[in-house]
Amino acid sequence: MSSPRHFLTLANLTSDELRGIIDRAIELKKLQREGVAHARYPGKVMAMLFSKASTRTRVSFEVGMRQLGGSALFLSSADTQLGRGEPIEDTARVLSSMVDLVMIRTHEHASVERFADVASVPVINGLTDDFHPCQLLADMQTWFEHRGDIRGRRVCWLGDGNNMCNSYINAARLLDFELVVACPAGYEPDAHLVAANRDRVSIEARPEVAVRGADLLITDVWASMGQEEEQQARSRAMAPYQLNHDLLAGAAADALYMHCLPAHRGEEISGELMDASDTVIWDEAENRLHAQKALIEFLLD
Ligand code: CP
Ligand code: NVA
Repeated sequence: MSSPRHFLTLANLTSDELRGIIDRAIELKKLQREGVAHARYPGKVMAMLFSKASTRTRVSFEVGMRQLGGSALFLSSADTQLGRGEPIEDTARVLSSMVDLVMIRTHEHASVERFADVASVPVINGLTDDFHPCQLLADMQTWFEHRGDIRGRRVCWLGDGNNMCNSYINAARLLDFELVVACPAGYEPDAHLVAANRDRVSIEARPEVAVRGADLLITDVWASMGQEEEQQARSRAMAPYQLNHDLLAGAAADALYMHCLPAHRGEEISGELMDASDTVIWDEAENRLHAQKALIEFLLD
């Protein structure tokens, strides 16, 4: 039996495949809006394993599976044997025999890799400490809808070099854009990823320099899930990197800005930008649904 395709990072896709998923996501959004049924997978079931909190990821996968004709099971680590120490590999083998897809949100990225190594159904990374590839599908769909191709554009990441930032590095390589990461010393993204993508990724500690000419600015929380006790130190270090009107004014005239949410107004992003009438942040959140439906189709087909 051939092994299934997994989506653990964007690097599991070719550029053409990623572009295909984005195109299909845009199409699926239109079908959904027009009320055109596209329930292509009756009876298919996705298991969703969560060891961290979620609003968007859970709801978008659950609703997405339903719109595609299937269903999804929410499994929290607090309620499964996985949370009581059953080996990941045993869980992967059992779930593979019962469901058609597995989505996992957890801490260590190695955990989803171990699961996928044994699983005989596609495994989707719904966020680990190192990567959040599903969010990138939605972000890129949002960019393509509003601005067209992102090839050759300048994108600026502000704040913590976290799981989202690492995923932006992968996106820069696959979609051929320039990524400038503006972060304080000690909060850089994964060093190996940066080294492997030096032709497209640079680090610039001065936020006002990093945003110059940027077509897209992105930020995320300063303390990710699991880093709550570092909140104060992180807030002190990252305060100059707040995405606000002043920084935005230094970017390209028609620059877009995004945030994967949940956001902390007055910390990594100003309340003014969060609540601006022309922000695309809410499209970005909605696009989780459409982009992941396109991903599910890609993996099941
Ligand atoms: N952006 C995102 O993944 O949101 P949730 O944590 O609510 O799933
Ligand atoms: N970087 C954040 C993203 C939340 C969707 C975290 O990992 O908590």
